[in-house]
Amino acid sequence: MANTQKIRPIHPFAARMAPEIAFAALDGLPKGSLILDPMSGSGTVVRTISSLGYNGIGIDIDPLAVMMSKAWTTSIHSRNFSRIVERVLTTAEKSALSTVSLPWIDEDIRTREFIDFWFAQKQKNALRKLASAIFHESGKYTDLLKVALSKLIITKQKGASLAADVSHGKPHRVRMSNDFDVLYEYQVVCNRLIKIMSESPMNGRVKVSRGDARKLRLPDNSIDAIITSPPYLNAIDYMRGHKLALVWLGYKIGDLAAIKRISVGAERAPEAKANIELAKNITSGIPDFHKLPKRKVNMIYRYALDMCTMLAEANRVLKCRARATYVIGNTTQNNVYIENTEIAKYVAEAWGLRLINRFEREIPQNRRYLPPPTKKEQSSFRTRMKTEAVLTFQKT
Ligand SMILES: C[S@@+](CC[C@H](N)C(=O)[O-])C[C@H]1O[C@@H](n2cnc3c(N)ncnc32)[C@H](O)[C@@H]1O
Repeated sequence: MANTQKIRPIHPFAARMAPEIAFAALDGLPKGSLILDPMSGSGTVVRTISSLGYNGIGIDIDPLAVMMSKAWTTSIHSRNFSRIVERVLTTAEKSALSTVSLPWIDEDIRTREFIDFWFAQKQKNALRKLASAIFHESGKYTDLLKVALSKLIITKQKGASLAADVSHGKPHRVRMSNDFDVLYEYQVVCNRLIKIMSESPMNGRVKVSRGDARKLRLPDNSIDAIITSPPYLNAIDYMRGHKLALVWLGYKIGDLAAIKRISVGAERAPEAKANIELAKNITSGIPDFHKLPKRKVNMIYRYALDMCTMLAEANRVLKCRARATYVIGNTTQNNVYIENTEIAKYVAEAWGLRLINRFEREIPQNRRYLPPPTKKEQSSFRTRMKTEAVLTFQKT
């Protein structure tokens, strides 16, 4: 356990997995095994397992999550990275604003309007120069440079934007002017990253890429274990906060909205061509399901179908008798208790993944696991997300 405690996160993330779950899931697996996290988020699983000598594949649909996992699993040479940071800052400081071109912003009115709403002029100018300088860099530190920029924006309190609570996925504009010094703070953040990244070495190889857990680009029977935590139904809208950083990192606001729409856990009805009969079967065991409003029923249908496709893919890529560990939270919607764990168990068993272990954990209050509830939400929120279950399946 000592090993995992030394690994400090490099970027805020609203629903991080507890590293000890990843650690425990490795039980009995030989070093060098290949572990997949198909919804890797900030990269807790790939970072933890690689420090312990396992190889990992991380996949996520969210470009910022992918940057975080890639950055976190980069072996860093402090002096080289410091030199690159210095070069980026010098380029940014020296560049004339009129020569900076960020086409995904300059040529897209929606992205420009979004930036105008969330950022004051001084920080906009500095972020333009900084983003442009980062995009001129290539090599293994580019994700770390981008994550450092993102850290200036995805903050709880004051950061480069006019918002608060960005790191909780609930940004709201709290000021109309800002004296945040972007380039100075970038240096501070990079120094901190160097310290964190130097604390714990990587001992396994890790590959992280953008992808969809419902359609893995991996061969059949190729993975020794899966360890993952899918988005909780209706819990966090990751993109709401992440887009404040991603608009500086090459993404148009329209592209980000499209990613959000197809993410698992989106509060949306299934696609028109979806197999609603299957969704009805999967959810048929939920008591009082009929009491839910249509919108919630549709949202749960979508989640159930996504779970079904994700577990089918998990089963396909796992080697025979390999294990898959899923951290899943149950929720209460409109006073109806939705056992997402039962949904997962039902579809897993249908694909040939047998449940071999299950335990419940209380979600520690002090963990930044979920966005803070608003006053109105407070009582329902506490009951909605108190515990999470850790389910271990085995491919039969
Ligand atoms: C609960 S978080 C994972 C947290 C992660 N275990 C960590 O410790 O940071 C769930 C992740 O699933 C990702 N996700 C949502 N839909 C996805 C999909 N279809 N394919 C891959 N990842 C997806 C989200 O972007 C989010 O990063």
